Amino acid sequence: MNDRPRYHFLPPANWMNDPNGTIFHDGTFHLFYQHNPHRPRWGSIHWGHARSRDLVHWEHLPIALAPDGGMRERHCFSGCCVIAGDGRPAILYTRIGLRSLLSRASRWADQCLAFGDPGLIAWRKHAGNPVVTEALHGGTRLRHWRDPYVWKDGSDWRMVLVGQRAGEKFGSVLLYRSPDLLAWRYEGVLCRGDESLGKGWECPNYFRLGDRWVLIVSPYAPVIYSVGELREGRHQRGPWRTFDHGRSFYATNTWIDDRGRTLVAGWVKAAGEGWAGCLSLPREVGLDGAGGLSIAPVAELEGLRREHRRLEVRVAPGQPPFAAASLSGDSVEIDARYALEAGERLGFELRAGQARYAFYVDFRSRTLQAGSARAPLRPETDSRAFGLRVFVDRCVIEIFIDGREAMTAVLPPRLVGAAPYAIVPLVSGGRGTARLDWWRLEGIGSSPSSSSISEAHGG
Ligand code: FRU
Repeated sequence: MNDRPRYHFLPPANWMNDPNGTIFHDGTFHLFYQHNPHRPRWGSIHWGHARSRDLVHWEHLPIALAPDGGMRERHCFSGCCVIAGDGRPAILYTRIGLRSLLSRASRWADQCLAFGDPGLIAWRKHAGNPVVTEALHGGTRLRHWRDPYVWKDGSDWRMVLVGQRAGEKFGSVLLYRSPDLLAWRYEGVLCRGDESLGKGWECPNYFRLGDRWVLIVSPYAPVIYSVGELREGRHQRGPWRTFDHGRSFYATNTWIDDRGRTLVAGWVKAAGEGWAGCLSLPREVGLDGAGGLSIAPVAELEGLRREHRRLEVRVAPGQPPFAAASLSGDSVEIDARYALEAGERLGFELRAGQARYAFYVDFRSRTLQAGSARAPLRPETDSRAFGLRVFVDRCVIEIFIDGREAMTAVLPPRLVGAAPYAIVPLVSGGRGTARLDWWRLEGIGSSPSSSSISEAHGG
């Protein structure tokens, strides 16, 4: 079955999970990622590496970090990459020791450094590793302590890590400071979780947007974020919101580029023959003016657009809109705009063979539904001015609602096996207009696409 995504980044073969060390440097976006080069399964975690000029086309590079093996380093867990004060590229990562075989990596973690050449290609681990150990926290024992995320703060570096403190059944984000990336001081808890926010947290990202600070964490469940302020070493937070409602999207990381854009990507938990995991489409984030984030796939993706069709209809009660419309493909983008009084159900159904997969916004129950997943709608979402952007890439689908919310999902194998999909617009209720733009998207590798337009339709 050909389920391998065509325009999402994946390693040359085998396993990937979290994006790591995402950095924009010398005009180039670097992506490192949790990688098992031996099997399409999690294990023996290395850091894979790729780079890109446009966040769309990627060049694979040699593996950046491999676990040393032996007792001390069984895996190189997630982390980040920065350019040190002396100009040397530096990776901070979590090292997991051998005894974690018994304790499942929840213990025997410490934080290590590696230095790279100017091109970020060849890496050498710092002889003085580890640079941060559990002993830094006084007597406090930590579990699931990992995933460094570092940024520059004046002449110092700050770092966050997640960890579960002894006696607590939830994760917290811990804050550290260093003048040189080598000597670290623990500054306390930046943000404390609670049991309603997951039994633990992973992969913290903490960054400034305008006058706000945004904290993103992966709580063994859909990724959440909170917009707030950094005051006296604490994240004074606004409400938690969901960054992506899908269970297949996880473990984010960020690039901040020379245009000042903040870009976020995560791991998509899709898998097929000989491959497992891909990178989500990179998303530009901003403040939405209502205490949340705007979330939109990066503009560079428009460069993949090929054949284009537009369907425009007037919607009126009792008239089935788009009755004869069906587009087809397995590698497409749809941009749908609706201006409907009392719209009820707006979205699409993918059909292939006997299999069906519907995703739509239901304004009566105020939910987004995608296959069997459901997510509540934000109060601002209104059918009178409503937009859906959808990216279908073989077994992966990413849905963006009004540029504010996202849902990533993996399509059911029965459907994927029978691709290409007929993509059928669903519009029920309402009076007004609906406009769909549809593009076949070019792949970023070499395999041919099987997209076409089976039937076009005017209003
Ligand atoms: C998140 C995560 C991280 C960890 C890495 C291990 O998916 O569990 O917390 O560093 O993956 O591969």
